[in-house]
Amino acid sequence: MEKNSKIILTIENEVATILISNPSKLNALSYSLLQDLEKKLDDLKQSSAKLIIFKGEGSKAFVAGADIKEMVSFTPQQAYEYIKYGQKVFTKVSKLSIPTIAVIQGFALGGGAELALACDFRIVNSDALFGFPEVQLGIIPGFGGTQRLTQLIGYSKSLEIILTSKRLSGEEMLSYGIANEFVKNGESMDDVIDKWVSSILKAAPIAVKMAKQAVQASETSSLESGLVIELMCETVCFSTSDCKIGFESFLERKQPEFKGE
Ligand code: HXC
Repeated sequence: MEKNSKIILTIENEVATILISNPSKLNALSYSLLQDLEKKLDDLKQSSAKLIIFKGEGSKAFVAGADIKEMVSFTPQQAYEYIKYGQKVFTKVSKLSIPTIAVIQGFALGGGAELALACDFRIVNSDALFGFPEVQLGIIPGFGGTQRLTQLIGYSKSLEIILTSKRLSGEEMLSYGIANEFVKNGESMDDVIDKWVSSILKAAPIAVKMAKQAVQASETSSLESGLVIELMCETVCFSTSDCKIGFESFLERKQPEFKGE
């Protein structure tokens, strides 16, 4: 593990965990932390990971946003570069070919909410508090929040959350369609995560990647172009040994054992 790194990457049983570890600032994102995150995302490309979990250190915060102490002295030019860079890193997160899960307990505010939105799924518990305080600071969400929140839950609800800076509880995140799963008090977060992990790891790895790519295309393409992308992704699946394994296992009434090829 690198000395002084605030982003800790571990890979175990094909599952990567990216831990944002800046607890004295509630895991706030500084420029150097974002650079470190980008490096870890690049490292992951060479790994055998089939799924990535993003977590914040400690139980108090996922990430409490961009580092306000650092931003306070930014010139508009520095702010431009910082925001552009943050957008680039979070877009890298959203474009990872394998599924990503943000595990949220405690604060996910501003840039922290945006990092969670760049992930495919959000699992939250009753301590989760999600929101965009930016307009109270005289700025707006700038690491993709205005776009990704709106794509996820629509214009009016998204603008409501951004303009009122309301903090949504874990249960509210679920009801707004921001969280995929709410872990109730008394339930184990780890057990819930394990269920997600095992059901995704059971699937054919290339099919998982193709499904993610095709679904993502719906956000940027017309229906016509999206259908072409779906057709191509599906044809790739049909060229894999795993497809043969999947079909034959069904016909032989046994569990498929996919090879990832
Ligand atoms: C820098 C932060 C921070 C942040 C918390 N801290 N959030 N430092 N940037 N975003 C630091 C505090 O200064 C404090 O350090 C320590 O973490 C603990 O925080 P407290 O405030 O003492 O804790 P608490 O009273 O429990 O309040 C928690 C909180 C509050 C409600 C989360 O810290 C808070 O409101 N934080 C700011 C949240 C925010 O506005 N996020 C959006 C940022 S803008 P010290 O050293 O004093 O003990 C953004 C835009 C990104 O993200 C995209 C455009 C650039």
